[in-house]
Amino acid sequence: MQMRNSTHRWGWLSQILHWTIVVLIVWLAWLGLTMVEMPIGIARINASALHKSLGLTLLALVTVRLVWRLFAGAPAALPGTPTWQARIADLTHVALYALLLAMPLSGWLFNSASGFPLQWFKQFNLPAIAGRDAALAEIARQIHFWGFWLLVALVAAHTGAALYHHFVQRDDTLRRMLPMRLRGQPAAPPRPPANAD
Ligand code: HEM
Repeated sequence: MQMRNSTHRWGWLSQILHWTIVVLIVWLAWLGLTMVEMPIGIARINASALHKSLGLTLLALVTVRLVWRLFAGAPAALPGTPTWQARIADLTHVALYALLLAMPLSGWLFNSASGFPLQWFKQFNLPAIAGRDAALAEIARQIHFWGFWLLVALVAAHTGAALYHHFVQRDDTLRRMLPMRLRGQPAAPPRPPANAD
């Protein structure tokens, strides 16, 4: 399989980035939602440190994905896709990229404005992106909280659309984001109209 995206399918670099980001989003969501319920203590500190390190990893991967997408392009819409559907898909993708940048950045801002230190997997320190400021920390926390639920809604719409294409329309939309051996059979050609005589 080739690395570059072609007009009809995603190359392996885009596929690896896409599915790694999916795993990270699910992991970050689960960690984020559970850690805020934990009592203050070592388990919460560890969960929070892991959450931040994974979030920073996601920020780096989304940046690479965005640069690669601008450089390598994307496959064309499948023939027969109505213009309104292609527009909604494009808008959803832009909103997903924006949120996937806003989530880690608002987390980083919240962390900085709260005066917490920030490390990436205990390997190196990252600088604060704001001074200690309780009002700013609260704004960043709200963005992080509501941004997350908006992200959940967009991911649900995006996943629902992919599954609809795969199981109802039976086209190649999902298949062209899957590695060769997971792709299964190509979409069945449309059935000829029933014989009228
Ligand atoms: C896409 C990336 C991220 C996602 C999806 C995500 C998701 C979440 C979620 C769901 C929560 C729980 C919110 C709540 O119920 O109050 C949370 C909390 C938190 N996140 Fe993230 N997060 C991400 C990245 C980051 C990053 C990069 C940092 C820091 C550098 C960070 C720092 C925090 C902190 C400190 C909290 C606790 C907020 C509080 O105490 O109310 N997050 N995150």
